[in-house]
Amino acid sequence: MAVLAFETSCDETSVAVVHQGRILSNIVSSQVELHAEYGGVVPELAARSHLRNLMPVARKALSDAAIPIEEIDAIVATQGPGLPGALMIGLKAAQAMAYVLRRPFFGIHHHEAHLYSPWTQGVPPCADFAAFQPNVALVVSGGHTMLVKVSAELEHQLLGTTLDDAAGECFDKIGKLIGLAYPAGPEIDRLAEGGNPAAFSFPRPMIHEPHDDFSFSGLKTSVRYFLRDHPDVLKHDQPVRDLCASVQAAIVEVLVTKTIRAARRAGVRCVTASGGVTCNRALRRSLATACQQHQFELRLAQHALCTDNAGMIGVLAERKLLRRAEPTHLDADILPSWTLEML
Ligand code: KG4
Ligand code: ZN
Repeated sequence: MAVLAFETSCDETSVAVVHQGRILSNIVSSQVELHAEYGGVVPELAARSHLRNLMPVARKALSDAAIPIEEIDAIVATQGPGLPGALMIGLKAAQAMAYVLRRPFFGIHHHEAHLYSPWTQGVPPCADFAAFQPNVALVVSGGHTMLVKVSAELEHQLLGTTLDDAAGECFDKIGKLIGLAYPAGPEIDRLAEGGNPAAFSFPRPMIHEPHDDFSFSGLKTSVRYFLRDHPDVLKHDQPVRDLCASVQAAIVEVLVTKTIRAARRAGVRCVTASGGVTCNRALRRSLATACQQHQFELRLAQHALCTDNAGMIGVLAERKLLRRAEPTHLDADILPSWTLEML
């Protein structure tokens, strides 16, 4: 079984070839530089850039995988959620290709694909997946922050989500206040390594609330007021590092505390994490420590599979194919506001 997968939900143009649970190629063309000067993703620019880059990226994915197009069994694409114009490019290209090649087409839910990326290790494929069900999955990126109970393969239940900003968005917006380029998450991570996480005290929003929802906009506002009252912090290297470490500590503590609490309540023995923010070193360390303490197995997505990529779309599509899921209609439209509950 070989699957050609497209992912264009936001600002990464990505095409992958997946074969028997292995990602043979996973080409990602990032638009980060295109959007950097605007401090965030500009939807119209994202769509135009996908249009320019999609076919060169697809050609490279096929040639790196060394699979002739005739040997592809299914063509799949992210159907939602995401930016409408951006989603449209990948979805319509995949549907056109499926029509011409007479292959089944599958529209994939972007968040559902993130749920399975911690299980994709390359070689050997995720043979142990079933042994770790049920698990609680933290999916945390620039567009989403959610806790999901995965009861069995392709069976999940949303436990909680962010009520306002996503954690990655919080990193990016606070980075902008500090004067860092978009996306600021990786730079805050780098600066924080040399800073004191206890230097400044910031709120841990909703950390004690009994539900599994998140809220990060208050943290961003509190950093804005802090910088208004302490403008000198930005004038020297060390206080900036301390500020980054303190902000990161607040975000990480909320994510880890709520993930562990949800996992304990759900009675699972495994915790997973994926999405761009899962690249964060403090989050990876803190999840590892907390899981060890509470005796949960921890599966973190590999760095290359944390951020948006078509490999995770192809892996999920292949699982659906193997379970004989119904193909998606070739006329199916994008679903920009598709939620996990609607699956
Ligand atoms: O999954 P992703 O590529 O795209 C979305 O679906 O949003 O995640 C991008 C997000 C950005 O907000 C970025 O700042 C954040 O992930 N990010 C990080 C790190 N690497 C990426 N945040 C904190 N620390 C990092 N090392
Ligand atoms: Zn994502």
